[in-house]
Amino acid sequence: MGLFNWFSKDKGFSKGIDLSILHTDIHSHLIPGIDDGSPDMETSLALLKELESLGYKKVITTPHVKTELFQNDVTRLDDLCASLQRAAKFEGIKLDIEVGAEHLLDEGVTDRIEKGLFKTFGQNYLLVEIPFVAPPFGLDSYIFELQLAGYKLILAHPERYLYWVNDFNQFVRLKDSGVLFQLNIMSLSSYFGKDVLHLAKKLIDNNMIELLGTDTHAMRHIEATQKACSSPLLKKLIESGRIINKEF
Ligand SMILES: [Fe+2]
Repeated sequence: MGLFNWFSKDKGFSKGIDLSILHTDIHSHLIPGIDDGSPDMETSLALLKELESLGYKKVITTPHVKTELFQNDVTRLDDLCASLQRAAKFEGIKLDIEVGAEHLLDEGVTDRIEKGLFKTFGQNYLLVEIPFVAPPFGLDSYIFELQLAGYKLILAHPERYLYWVNDFNQFVRLKDSGVLFQLNIMSLSSYFGKDVLHLAKKLIDNNMIELLGTDTHAMRHIEATQKACSSPLLKKLIESGRIINKEF
């Protein structure tokens, strides 16, 4: 695809890349009232409209599932998503909407594997996150267990795990074990600060990113994502041909 096609005809070059090139956003928090994302249906619809105007055709929304904080019952997510789909259709929103989850790798992993309580999307892809303060004890065994159970792992926003800035080999190890990495587009706007931006750049420079997400919880994330659409790093990443969002 030529460079010209990357930029929205309506918004012009100065607004940056038209995200229709990605087709699908695989990370957001738009099921109302079940995590720290959208609090109500009205907000969810407003956020969906913004994602549509950024160019997306499809959204796989991914509520947090954490053993301690958000005890989301993954078996309810399809019904909650159906309500969101109905409301969106009524509002004239044309996005395809699906639901997955963002699972925190914590001590509940083994139990969830046994009970089949992981919410996947696509061909058994599982979006996972790890704590921002320090990696969990037993990370290697969680990953091993999940992969043995057949899950294809996507690590959410690796650029935000700053405890590995000086231990970059941890990222290399995860890549070597087959984990895909999903970068938050807004990290390229320096929304999370310079350190996250620098780590994002290093991951991009090392060809370690396969997926992009907005991680939309609220309108401020749409604004930061919009800002990042002008980032040369985003352009470089998309030009690399490594991004596989369209497969979802
Ligand atoms: Fe998230």
